[in-house]
Amino acid sequence: MAENSLSRLAAEFKNFLAAQDEDEFIATAAATPAAVSVASVQSASEEPAQTAVPPMPEGETLTVEFPRARAREQAAAPAPVQAPAAEETFSPQQEPVPMNTAQKTAALAELADTIKNCSRCPLGATRINAVPGEGNVDADLMFIGEGPGFDEDRQGRPFVGRAGQLLDKMIAAMGLKREQVFIANIAKCHPMTDPLHPEKHGNDRAPNAGEIACCRKYLEQQIAIICPKYIVALGGVSAKALISDAKSLGALRGRFYDLSLDSVQLPRPVKILATFHPAALLRNPGWKKDAWIDLQMVMAELGLKGASK
Ligand code: URA
Repeated sequence: MAENSLSRLAAEFKNFLAAQDEDEFIATAAATPAAVSVASVQSASEEPAQTAVPPMPEGETLTVEFPRARAREQAAAPAPVQAPAAEETFSPQQEPVPMNTAQKTAALAELADTIKNCSRCPLGATRINAVPGEGNVDADLMFIGEGPGFDEDRQGRPFVGRAGQLLDKMIAAMGLKREQVFIANIAKCHPMTDPLHPEKHGNDRAPNAGEIACCRKYLEQQIAIICPKYIVALGGVSAKALISDAKSLGALRGRFYDLSLDSVQLPRPVKILATFHPAALLRNPGWKKDAWIDLQMVMAELGLKGASK
């Protein structure tokens, strides 16, 4: 009798342990007519209860886990609120602070060194010189072209060829000197149609999307360091990359955009305006009139009166 009861109890206990949740356990127990309680087994025993299991020490409790029930509870419970990491708690995110002239000069020089050693894209293998950019680190106005050409590749300086000479004239017409602005490019190395023959003239092309992406963080860091008030994007490649809009240059011209960068925060807002690339103006002199309208918009913002006659 006692043996019988004990083996039923053992069988039930096995079911109990196998049960994944309370419902399943109750259903199993209900389907077992021989289900007996520990107390009834003990009272039915001819001998005083001699269990193989040592008695539970006083004050201790037995906890049985139902894995599926636990999973259900966890699913129903609201997601635990993650305590912020210690450094988040103690170092709140700093707003970027504009740098002073010495800090800007040092940061740009360091960045230029990085650019000169860059081989993030294949242009690094075919360039003669990287062309990080140059100018006044405290400039209110920045001009950004698409990428170095033949002359720039040889000199390591932006806009020093024919297009550069026209850019110098555009800057002068605004009443500024080249040394007062900062000039850079979207791509820092010369994109060539025939990279096997860098000595060839007429070997220039616009940087492709991959090259632009590789250089993007360099340009963004330059902009954040200099933090000009205005940027003039020269040509469609530059305008589309900086305004992050695939529209044509014609559609992007004529208004200012708030510059937004992917990789760095700006210490203060920067506005951007798109106009024609000087090389395009050399090919289409009729467009100079419209380019001058664009530049006058920037002049009005900066309080520039233009070149004195
Ligand atoms: N064209 C550009 O876009 N950048 C230069 O530096 C020279 C020509």
